[in-house]
Amino acid sequence: MTDLPALTAQALEQIGASDSLPRLDELRVHWLGKKGVLTEQLKMVGGLGAAERPAAGARINAAKSELQSAIDARRATLEQAAVAQQLAAGRIDVSLPGRGEVTGGLHPITRLRLRIEELFRNAGYEVADGPEVEDEFHNFEALNIPADHPARAMHDTFYLDNGMLLRTHTSPVQVRAMRERKPPFALIAPGRVYRCDSDVSHSPMFHQVEGLLIDTDVSFANLKSVLHQFMEALFERSLAMRLRPSYFPFTEPSAEVDISCVLCGGKGCRVCKQTGWLEVAGCGMVHPNVFRACGIDATRYSGFAFGFGIERLAMLRYGVNDLRLFYENDLRFLAQFARG
Ligand code: DAH
Repeated sequence: MTDLPALTAQALEQIGASDSLPRLDELRVHWLGKKGVLTEQLKMVGGLGAAERPAAGARINAAKSELQSAIDARRATLEQAAVAQQLAAGRIDVSLPGRGEVTGGLHPITRLRLRIEELFRNAGYEVADGPEVEDEFHNFEALNIPADHPARAMHDTFYLDNGMLLRTHTSPVQVRAMRERKPPFALIAPGRVYRCDSDVSHSPMFHQVEGLLIDTDVSFANLKSVLHQFMEALFERSLAMRLRPSYFPFTEPSAEVDISCVLCGGKGCRVCKQTGWLEVAGCGMVHPNVFRACGIDATRYSGFAFGFGIERLAMLRYGVNDLRLFYENDLRFLAQFARG
């Protein structure tokens, strides 16, 4: 038999010098595994004389357990070292200031819509809404836009398979409101509208606010004064406003609303195309045909209506020069509106 004390000493030295858990496991297999050095020694005991066998077996087993203890101890040391190393690498400095919490905010279009609603509520207007999936009657016919009317072509309508459509403006809410209420009443109807149109200044989905006031003796002067006060309240400054004659099938007379440019104060700049004016809304007196389609006595009542795009006003109010920024959901853009 090989010199057992010498073998044991060699094994103990190797175990003590092992510097990693995989290396330690290699040594365990080498010395104590099924074909390990000491296991082979044990197998040779069978070839010894009966008198020697018990003592030889006992010595080898003692050597085996000595090595096993040495391996266990070394493993514990190496495992502890590994944990210590991990802790050192991933050290947390509890004295560092925290990263803080990011608070969400309202989308600029939502913020402006809420502000518009507040301004009109304060003036006694109700905030109404209607469906985004509409029928031809509410979106067109009742608004004095029959099937063969050229104005239909300008609406770039998304038609659905079931004969319905995505409303192209908030004006159909006028029709619903008139059919549901008895005058006098005043309301605005903000909401999403859809047109099959997309470029730098057009998005297939955008937001409008419709306005409608019906009473006896409503005049064009009332309309002008309401819009002027609203624009000044919204932009928080005095503004010049002018109405240019225009055409909408559902109002007569109709006008386009311009305000003095909020960027250059009317001197002329890139945004107002050097005119000093910004077109911000359409408006007019409710057409008798619309009253008729909605069951309101046009000889007794008169009313005004207006409509404008929220995105357009948001661009002017917040100084945003590209409509698409509102829909890209880039947090660096949106975060600028989170407060204030
Ligand atoms: N519905 C029109 C559009 O989408 C906007 C509009 C113009 C609404 C005049 C009105 C109005 O109520 O009187 O272009």
